[in-house]
Amino acid sequence: MNEEAAGLNPSSYAPQEKASSPRSKFWLWGTVAIVTIVAIGGIVAGVVLSRHKSSSSSTSTGGGGSNKNSSSSDPSSFTKNPALKNSFYGFAYTPLGAILPDCGATQDGVIQDIQLLSQLTTRIRTYGSDCNVSSLVLNAIKQTQVDMTVFLGIYISDNDTVYERQRDLTFTALQNFGVDHVAGLTVGNEVILDRLTLVGSQNPNDTTGIAAAEFLKDKISDVRSTLSNMSFSKTIPVGYADAGSYFNTDILEAVDYAMANVHPWFADVTIDQSASWTASYFQSTDIDLAASTTKNPPFYIAETGWPTNSSTTAAAQNQAGSPASDANLQFFIDNFVCQANQNGTGYFFFEYMDEPWKTTQYGGVEGYWGLFDSNKQLKNITIPDCTHK
Ligand SMILES: *[C@@H]1O[C@H](CO)[C@@H](O)[C@H](O)[C@H]1NC(C)=O
Ligand SMILES: *[C@@H]1O[C@H](CO)[C@@H](O)[C@H](O)[C@H]1NC(C)=O
Ligand SMILES: *[C@@H]1O[C@H](CO)[C@@H](O)[C@H](O)[C@H]1NC(C)=O
Ligand SMILES: *[C@@H]1O[C@H](CO)[C@@H](O)[C@H](O)[C@H]1NC(C)=O
Ligand SMILES: *[C@@H]1O[C@H](CO)[C@@H](O)[C@H](O)[C@H]1NC(C)=O
Ligand SMILES: *[C@@H]1O[C@H](CO)[C@@H](O)[C@H](O)[C@H]1NC(C)=O
Ligand SMILES: *[C@@H]1O[C@H](CO)[C@@H](O)[C@H](O)[C@H]1NC(C)=O
Ligand SMILES: *[C@@H]1O[C@H](CO)[C@@H](O)[C@H](O)[C@H]1NC(C)=O
Repeated sequence: MNEEAAGLNPSSYAPQEKASSPRSKFWLWGTVAIVTIVAIGGIVAGVVLSRHKSSSSSTSTGGGGSNKNSSSSDPSSFTKNPALKNSFYGFAYTPLGAILPDCGATQDGVIQDIQLLSQLTTRIRTYGSDCNVSSLVLNAIKQTQVDMTVFLGIYISDNDTVYERQRDLTFTALQNFGVDHVAGLTVGNEVILDRLTLVGSQNPNDTTGIAAAEFLKDKISDVRSTLSNMSFSKTIPVGYADAGSYFNTDILEAVDYAMANVHPWFADVTIDQSASWTASYFQSTDIDLAASTTKNPPFYIAETGWPTNSSTTAAAQNQAGSPASDANLQFFIDNFVCQANQNGTGYFFFEYMDEPWKTTQYGGVEGYWGLFDSNKQLKNITIPDCTHK
């Protein structure tokens, strides 16, 4: 399948690994009828990442009109933007400058993000701990004193060095900043997807899928025992995130919660169907599978959203003919957010802000999923006003 026509998945790879992984990877969006296959390695080969310099400077200076007081000496006192409403169950969040080797995330930048996010939601999830992200986020919540909990990501690649580094950084953050605002530790992102992709499979029940779950269970149990050795004041749930169709019962029996990416854009659903498709796909593929296990862990939508722009005309619309646009992001928000709240669905809207490094590295719609652009300016959208859990 043509790479550009297929569209790139913005979100399937943890940021920590994207910058350093030279090998070809494939994204498989599995539904019964629709399979989107994308080769990424070839596209990224030779691309020199220079995102960090520009993104960190925009972090410190680009706060923009929505939040001029964010670098005041008291981060807990900041001007609210009346256009923002606390209507979202949760948000997927990656700070600028969070990917090795080009770290650059700053405490001021993350404080500003948390100030903005706290006007939209009370929950965020992160993808990894490199570049001190877990500490920066927990410290920002502490400094701003906002009502916010975080599911911290511990990224896993096929290299244990990466896992151990991420785990240690996360536990250092918990030690230094406490666990009051920690809702969970998400151990691994799309590990089953990646392992199946390497062998050309889409079936999480096959031997590769089960082996991947066994591999993950080792890490999950390592995190659990580290947690129990540290005897924190509360029990921290340990979970796992993958694309919606890559869970098996083996992994679901092992986690306290699961998180599934459910992307109508990549499933080539029309914008008109996007919200209802997301709800029914998540129910039939993920919730029902979890319900068939004895553990029946809570399941969240790890990512859902709609892109607003594309770096190529070929990827400017999905194969159902629905464009990446502010208007379609608005449509998806209008038809998903308050309805999902009412239905009791836990979801992390993808995502807080545009990530320019993804445009550089992957092209397509990759870098354009934010409610805010990369200068932290709210796009041309109206935030609905409704309550959430
Ligand atoms: C910044 O904070 C000061 C003092 O709290 C306030 O007077 C001022 O209006 C704020 N500025 C903006 C742009 O909100
Ligand atoms: C990580 O961030 C925390 C919170 O800002 C800070 O105290 C710590 O010094 C940082 N560590 C490194 C290595 O930058
Ligand atoms: C793991 O990754 C590190 C850093 O990227 C590298 O130095 C090391 O050789 C890798 N180890 C294995 C076993 O691949
Ligand atoms: C994997 O097994 C579950 C039940 O254990 C089933 O619901 C699901 O459809 C299977 N997936 C595939 C791709 O065969
Ligand atoms: C937890 O503590 C026990 C007893 O001190 C030790 O054997 C084990 O290695 C520790 N586990 C971890 C993951 O730190
Ligand atoms: C949309 O993408 C094009 C191509 O990458 C870029 O030139 C343009 O600045 C983007 N527009 C916005 C509003 O980000
Ligand atoms: C909410 O539930 C209704 C009734 O089951 C369903 O039709 C709708 O698609 C759901 N919407 C969302 C966004 O969850
Ligand atoms: C903002 O969105 C509204 C409603 O979709 C549209 O009418 C208006 O033209 C847009 N404004 C800009 C500057 O794009």
